[in-house]
Amino acid sequence: MTAAAKTTTTGQGGSRFEVEEFATNGVIFDPTQGRVKAELTARLCGSSGLQEQDVIIESPPSLFGGGQNHGLWNLRSPGSAGSTSAVSSSKEAGARGGQLNFVLKLVKSKRKGSSILTEAEGFISLFEKHPAIVDDPHLAFPLKILKFMEPGGMRGEQDLIVMREVTGQRLSDLIAHKHNANQTPQIMQILEEIGSLLREFHTRYGNKQHGDFQPSNIMYDETTRRGVFIDISGMAQETSKETDMERFCGSLSLLSGFYGPQFFINGKRHIEKGYARRRHTTHGGATYAASAGRSLRSA
Ligand SMILES: Nc1ncnc2c1ncn2[C@@H]1O[C@H](COP(=O)(O)OP(=O)(O)O)[C@@H](O)[C@H]1O
Ligand SMILES: [Mg+2]
Repeated sequence: MTAAAKTTTTGQGGSRFEVEEFATNGVIFDPTQGRVKAELTARLCGSSGLQEQDVIIESPPSLFGGGQNHGLWNLRSPGSAGSTSAVSSSKEAGARGGQLNFVLKLVKSKRKGSSILTEAEGFISLFEKHPAIVDDPHLAFPLKILKFMEPGGMRGEQDLIVMREVTGQRLSDLIAHKHNANQTPQIMQILEEIGSLLREFHTRYGNKQHGDFQPSNIMYDETTRRGVFIDISGMAQETSKETDMERFCGSLSLLSGFYGPQFFINGKRHIEKGYARRRHTTHGGATYAASAGRSLRSA
């Protein structure tokens, strides 16, 4: 562990964002056991008093869609029934009532192209431009990024992104379930809500585009009726090929291959209707103009 490179930053709402180095042995990363599990538990759960034997780190059942990551795990303390704490305003990172629910996402640390930021670089850049993003309840912004370091101080090939687990289901799964249950009106209602949320998001972040706005990157909790956007590091990319609305409608068009042409027509109409009718938002405001303070790039 290299504590010297640690950078801690606290958002105005109390959420923390930390970038730290993580010493690896140059072998395949397996957080489910051994030294790696012990060290991750200490780094992620230390303040809650939980120890290695108190948490379970495991891969979720295989997920359909997406697939840009190199590995995905859930870290949970026993008693947390899957998704409970989610993206909340809880000041204790990811913890509520002593229970923890984190998602660990392994990603490449090298750029795919000279002008394409890595996920870690994207998050750091977003934080520098929009410090209050760490407190945004509608975005899965990480709590911690672990930059892998190999023996001899060489930069490793990967980074680990640590996020709170968001409650609810992916919109792609929700649409499938509701379609099978003949609940198309409910799907359309949710699409309208997501449209409003997208409009708020564009307004809050100076019309920055999510960059991959499609149903497997949106979580929706039917109990709280809260939508949360995940896989958001693409927001940091200065240019995107298509707008979020174009990208989303493109995926509705693909889905209409399964659900019929009317699904595309209705779905597009409802998301656009929601987008036009932006909800009132209380989140953000002037805090988004605040300075990022110390640069994280040096971390
Ligand atoms: N913060 C989170 N909370 C809950 N589930 C998540 C979270 N982040 C990712 N996931 C799950 O992992 C899947 C893949 O994550 P994502 O960030 O979209 O990676 P990829 O770049 O591979 O698309 C998502 O579709 C979702 O099911
Ligand atoms: Mg994704």
